[in-house]
Amino acid sequence: MSRKFALVPAAGSGSRMGGECPKQYLPLAGRPLIFHTLDALCRCAEIEAVFVVLAPDDRHWGSYDWSPFGSRLKPLWCGGASRAESVSNGLAAMAGTAGDDDWVLVHDAARPCLSQAQLARLIREVGEDAVGGILAVPVADTLKRDGGDGRIGATVERSGLWQAQTPQMFRYRLLRRALEATRAVTDEAGAIEAQGHRPRLVAADITNLKVTYPQDLQLAAWILANRGET
Ligand code: CTP
Ligand code: MG
Repeated sequence: MSRKFALVPAAGSGSRMGGECPKQYLPLAGRPLIFHTLDALCRCAEIEAVFVVLAPDDRHWGSYDWSPFGSRLKPLWCGGASRAESVSNGLAAMAGTAGDDDWVLVHDAARPCLSQAQLARLIREVGEDAVGGILAVPVADTLKRDGGDGRIGATVERSGLWQAQTPQMFRYRLLRRALEATRAVTDEAGAIEAQGHRPRLVAADITNLKVTYPQDLQLAAWILANRGET
């Protein structure tokens, strides 16, 4: 059986959040935001180790106590200029640990509300799939394309559209090669698709939100406080 590893890109600056502190370190439910993200992954017994990709000049990581996660948590100081580059650098650093057919679950540091149920569902539904898959949510709202003049240019057909989330779960070698071939993607599935593969869509829900704007922090705090998972 293939082993499973998590890889958490955490080298962004959080420009849409604004402020001095990168959003992954903002306080959330009494901890830095990324603590909750890492906790969700470390609590999953099927995941052998959790690699976290930090910016080479990260000044925040060292201020916190990560010992609750023990030796399964492995910081890598190899973040790049884009998310794809950070993930690609992280995969390269995992070369001595992960085998070609092992699974890598790439999960945004900025998604602290991943539930154990969603994570288990991804792992179960992807199973031993030849390609891999991602958590995603069917689009609920009617979609409008901006006409560029402050008015609606068009209504976009919503049926069949999904919002991609993370974790995104792929075989180590396939993902590494795909990201080496194309960096112009905003998620791992995009790189896999560019190689002609069709990742599985695994239904999640909107509680697995990506904290992007200041108001998202309050929503994340509410979700963590009300989920009943401890
Ligand atoms: N990320 C990364 N390396 C980068 C850019 C982003 O590891 N060069 C990580 C972020 O830390 C985050 C995840 O990728 O956990 C998703 O990216 P996003 O939500 O866009 O975070 P930021 O890029 O930090 O935010 P913004 O786009 O608002 O600047
Ligand atoms: Mg970004």
